[in-house]
Amino acid sequence: MMQITKPASFENVVSMEDLSVEDVLSFVHDATEFKAGKQIELKRPVYAANLFFENSTRTHTSFEMAERKLGLQVVNFDPACSSVNKGETMGDTIKTLQAIGVDVMAIRHKKNEYYKDLVSDPNIHVGIANAGDGSGQHPSQSLLDLMTIYEEFGHFEGLKIAIVGDLTHSRVAHSNMEALTMLGAHVYFGGPKKWYTDEFANYGEWLPMDELVSQMDVMMLLRVQHERIDANENGAFSAADYHEKYGLTLKREAMMPDQSIIMHPAPVNRGVEIADELVECDKSRIFRQMENGVFVRMAIMTSMLRNRDLVKAEY
Ligand code: CP
Repeated sequence: MMQITKPASFENVVSMEDLSVEDVLSFVHDATEFKAGKQIELKRPVYAANLFFENSTRTHTSFEMAERKLGLQVVNFDPACSSVNKGETMGDTIKTLQAIGVDVMAIRHKKNEYYKDLVSDPNIHVGIANAGDGSGQHPSQSLLDLMTIYEEFGHFEGLKIAIVGDLTHSRVAHSNMEALTMLGAHVYFGGPKKWYTDEFANYGEWLPMDELVSQMDVMMLLRVQHERIDANENGAFSAADYHEKYGLTLKREAMMPDQSIIMHPAPVNRGVEIADELVECDKSRIFRQMENGVFVRMAIMTSMLRNRDLVKAEY
């Protein structure tokens, strides 16, 4: 890994577009150290809140696990029972939590770039980690994907990585194609061509599944995001047809090179984008990605704590 000249210190972590190569490698380095047992000591009690206005299993629970492992106190917040339902704005909700003493938070929201108004508001000082904005960015997922790839190959330069599936609606695809290209990997795309729009063509070519599987180091699969697709399109969707044309079938997995791996941000729709039997096969790193998610989120939170001078020691 390149020499890290300074530990990551960020006021907020909201988009991969804000990160340089050194920033990304610094997060991966910190996450790797947390995985090896590194701990931090805080200067005072620090409070975190997790605001998930969209469904989540992995990101929500692993941010909370990361916060607890760092010694933060986690304040419970449930949007379904909150005053958001009485018309309170997101900005006022954040300022309320800040006023009661929350220092850092993870936020997921269906609105693309919801964070722009928050991080530019001079009255908001709480640290914001973007836990996913609509089809925009998912920086903690991207960083855990990068950590998992780095653990496997020890570098990014020259790797061939295919992102396959519902590209248009995927914040993972957006975050990862930018980061992987910046790190020197070659990005390819697969799945229904209607989702391979100009923004993706600027980053890499589209290939049929049978060509991708025989050439790639990493097959990164995405689920079809039915919640972001209209009723007509959902009505015409056939899981069996999709699996046959664009899925990682048993036959296609057998065509993959020996050292290649399978990734998926999950949740997985077994039998659609990937055969049921392959979710936990030897090549699959899907549950390793989830494990690494805790350490990456420890690194993200620590970067915001360093920025606020709340870290006494790291050992
Ligand atoms: N990968 C991911 O973001 O999963 P969740 O939606 O369960 O958080």
